[in-house]
Amino acid sequence: MEILRGINFAVPRGQFIAIMGPSGSGKSTLLGLLAGLDTPTAGSIVLDGQEIAGLAEDSLALIRGRKIGFVFQSYQLIPTLTAIENVLLPHELAGEANGLARAMELLENVGLSERRDHYPIQLSGGEQQRVALARAFMVRPPILMADEPTGNLDSANGEHVLELLLSMNRREGTTLVLVTHDATLAAHADRILRLKDGVIVGDELRA
Ligand SMILES: Nc1ncnc2c1ncn2[C@@H]1O[C@H](COP(=O)(O)OP(=O)(O)O)[C@@H](O)[C@H]1O
Ligand SMILES: [Mg+2]
Repeated sequence: MEILRGINFAVPRGQFIAIMGPSGSGKSTLLGLLAGLDTPTAGSIVLDGQEIAGLAEDSLALIRGRKIGFVFQSYQLIPTLTAIENVLLPHELAGEANGLARAMELLENVGLSERRDHYPIQLSGGEQQRVALARAFMVRPPILMADEPTGNLDSANGEHVLELLLSMNRREGTTLVLVTHDATLAAHADRILRLKDGVIVGDELRA
């Protein structure tokens, strides 16, 4: 089955692009392809000047580790690690030490400092989503990709996460590629790409 067809677009460095569209339109598939988590059957995907379609998994993992923070729709926290350990993980995988202060600060930013020693199973869906966001921010990735990052948050936490995302975009120049149904979030995007049935049906640059 063909999920995406004739997709052709480029995201300039530092852009905040929102990908929108009905459920089943291919948004998560597209995001996974952009991050090198999935391989296209045809076509080319260039990430920061480098062709990634067809690269072996170990090369992809290296590139992802350096360039991309990724927040899965289903969070994908490690169940045997606490909240703080999950946030620290990308930092440790990158072979770096002394990440604890930043990890704590990020957990505080998402309003979860008192939950630091809780395991994912002890956290609500919204709390897990916020841990996943803090984890994605941990290594200051130049590109952040997130699949419905506010999908499970109440409006107060959603606003908090939005501010965090916007400040990364403005202060650190982080490229944001966000799949979202959230009109409030999309209203802040530089650009909205709309998918339907696996094709791009809209590509709107905003003032
Ligand atoms: N692993 C998979 N195997 C087969 N079909 C899939 C798989 N993942 C997604 N699909 C199908 O691809 C289409 C797009 O799915 P998805 O990218 O998850 O859409 P969205 O994120 O926009 O809801 C859907 O029809 C879905 O059923
Ligand atoms: Mg999806």
